[in-house]
Amino acid sequence: VPRRPLLIANWKMYKTVPESTAFARELARRLDEWTGWDELLDVVLCPTAPALWSLHRVLARTGVGVGAQDGVPGTEGAMTGALSMYLVREAGAAWCLVGHSERRRLFGETDAVIGAKVAAAQAAGLCPVLCVGETAEERSAGATDAVVRRQLDVLGDEPGSLVVAYEPVWAIGTGLTADPEEVGRVAALVRTSLTGRWGTAGGAVRVLYGGSVSAATLGGFLAQPSVDGALVGGASLRLDEFWRLARIAAEAAPSANPPSGA
Ligand code: PGA
Repeated sequence: VPRRPLLIANWKMYKTVPESTAFARELARRLDEWTGWDELLDVVLCPTAPALWSLHRVLARTGVGVGAQDGVPGTEGAMTGALSMYLVREAGAAWCLVGHSERRRLFGETDAVIGAKVAAAQAAGLCPVLCVGETAEERSAGATDAVVRRQLDVLGDEPGSLVVAYEPVWAIGTGLTADPEEVGRVAALVRTSLTGRWGTAGGAVRVLYGGSVSAATLGGFLAQPSVDGALVGGASLRLDEFWRLARIAAEAAPSANPPSGA
């Protein structure tokens, strides 16, 4: 079964609720005029938590998914300031980023915490997007593969619904472009690790690339057989640029390029 391209916008701590809603309304309007887009790719927006419900309301009929950027395990409780996987799901999220490098670095999230979040997201009915990737230091020490394997080790006995995003930390928000073939190599390593763990079910998990993706670079990453889409920060904030990314991802869809004779 071919894996459908997946384009995820990570808005980080950007956009007010009205700004987020206006973006979603305009995206919905444009998609209304693009018949069949949803057979070619999946699109998910991850706004700040206060905008989840509003985006869910605006986008529900369009097929565009809404994702949270984080969530803690559990449902409800005496945990001032925390937001559970259950509550983000009830606010309209169907997806949740887990273990983004900014969470690891700025909020001290360990592999153990991240593993618990992946399991909690799945238990809450969300599709976790597990982010993995090496820092610049780890890369120059030749530790990329070992770091990525270690970060994948948090996964459990069943794949459940899951996406993995390979995001080399040094390429995030820096404009530094990772080499597509090297990204393809690490994505293939992720794939091998998933199929080693789960067999054919691991082959169905989508593996994304993230890190300074732009309309100029997306095609090169999607051309790698093990890369099924992208997790996009900066370039997802402006609708025109995000729209270009969606068009490029749609062109990479297996069904957009039927084998000759089909
Ligand atoms: P960037 O962010 O596209 O701005 O590098 C990607 C991410 O952090 O997921």
